Amino acid sequence: MSAVLKDPEAPFGHHHGPMLTGVYAPLAEEETLTDLPVEGKIPADLNGVYLRNGPNPRFEPKGAYHYFDGDGMLHAAVFRAGQLTYRSRWIRTEGWLENEAAGRETHWGVMATVKGNPKKPMSNVANTDVIGHGGNAVATWYLAGVPYLVDPVTLETVRGAPEYVGGSGNGMSAHCKVDEVTGELMFFDYFAEPPYMRYGVITDDGELVHHVPIELPGDRLPHDMGITEHYSILHDLPVYHDEAALKAGRHKIRFDASLPARFGVIPRRGAPESIRWFEFSPCFLYHVVNCWEEGDEVVMVACRYMPAEHSDGTIDEQRTAKMIAHLMMDARLWRYRMNLKTGETHEECLNPDLNVEFPGYDSSRTGRKTRWGYLVDHDPNTLRWTGIRKFDTDTGECVGAWTDGHDHCWYTEPWFAPADDATTEYHGYVIVFVWNDEAREEQLQVFDARDLNAGPMARITLPHRIPPGFHACWMKPGQIATW
Ligand SMILES: [Fe+2]
Repeated sequence: MSAVLKDPEAPFGHHHGPMLTGVYAPLAEEETLTDLPVEGKIPADLNGVYLRNGPNPRFEPKGAYHYFDGDGMLHAAVFRAGQLTYRSRWIRTEGWLENEAAGRETHWGVMATVKGNPKKPMSNVANTDVIGHGGNAVATWYLAGVPYLVDPVTLETVRGAPEYVGGSGNGMSAHCKVDEVTGELMFFDYFAEPPYMRYGVITDDGELVHHVPIELPGDRLPHDMGITEHYSILHDLPVYHDEAALKAGRHKIRFDASLPARFGVIPRRGAPESIRWFEFSPCFLYHVVNCWEEGDEVVMVACRYMPAEHSDGTIDEQRTAKMIAHLMMDARLWRYRMNLKTGETHEECLNPDLNVEFPGYDSSRTGRKTRWGYLVDHDPNTLRWTGIRKFDTDTGECVGAWTDGHDHCWYTEPWFAPADDATTEYHGYVIVFVWNDEAREEQLQVFDARDLNAGPMARITLPHRIPPGFHACWMKPGQIATW
């Protein structure tokens, strides 16, 4: 009997909805590819790895599928002396290994269960972010779990790392921050019982040197944080679980416009009581661009979600919650200022016109003043990024943009890759994957960061589509233990 060939654009059929078919359909294989066709030239002073994480379910989901559920798969573009190697591997999470042994999906997704429900177990799929730390890549999960350490070049899972977060019983949220000057990694964890949050610091060699409870007013669903040279900035946003749904074992979120957005500034290794909270207009925000100190002020540049409004201008809490739950983004670049001396606050929209998200920048300057941010244009109706833009985050001006077609392209999160001998923030490249649905072609594109308007200086064509995903990072050779 001949094998039945699965449709690569609907490997699990069409009954799971749009996020598992067409452009979003997962890949069935892991690959290593070299000698790919290049249009233009890969710069010789571009050395390191662009890594992209995202959902790529290995087996057909049990029940309803949410885009957040799929097993984490990393895609690596390894640049070495003008040559490129592309590699894809699933992260060998505990759940992935259980599924592999069973030959089927053995966990439930966020539409059917909540984290910690013993009757309907969920898997920490580590599919959300990836960041370089201590010589490895760290893959993380938005609901907070054990982070997985991965070799950034071979993409072999080095280990799951429970000791990394001190056996807290919980873990690390998707977005931690690495200070590339000191090598420290700052992270938070959040959960539905008091104190609702924990904050920690891990050194370059993987030692947990600081881990403290952060008391929030209630159950919250924060997503990101920020760091400066001396402080960390933690988020208390007016988004939390619907209590009745949580009791019934269902994941449903509420946006509460009667509460402020609060940002807590805590010294890097500060005691819990040393945190200072600053209040701002109610909002949700997924992603911080960067933070730094200016005199007595802590500055945070972020992509603020614009709450949906009723026709009378008041906030539509239900629609806002739905948009957040399904990543239907309507976000603007926003600058927050918190004065540690006077307690004064200031918030301002940097660019009212452009809906942009998923920021990249020069991560060697995380926590230090940066000027340039690289973001994606966001289709507000679905999770599709239609082009990339460079912003001057001092003024909010968009100083460069590129797309191969807003109506038929899917871009990934762009990251800045410094040139080997870079001494300035703009000397380097911007790396991104793009699927062109009209040309039916996947490319890895390299831009001169100084001029996105000039278009890609190198286009490397891959033999197939890479499904859209979440976050990416750039790792320099000096950050990679096995380079
Ligand atoms: Fe995120």
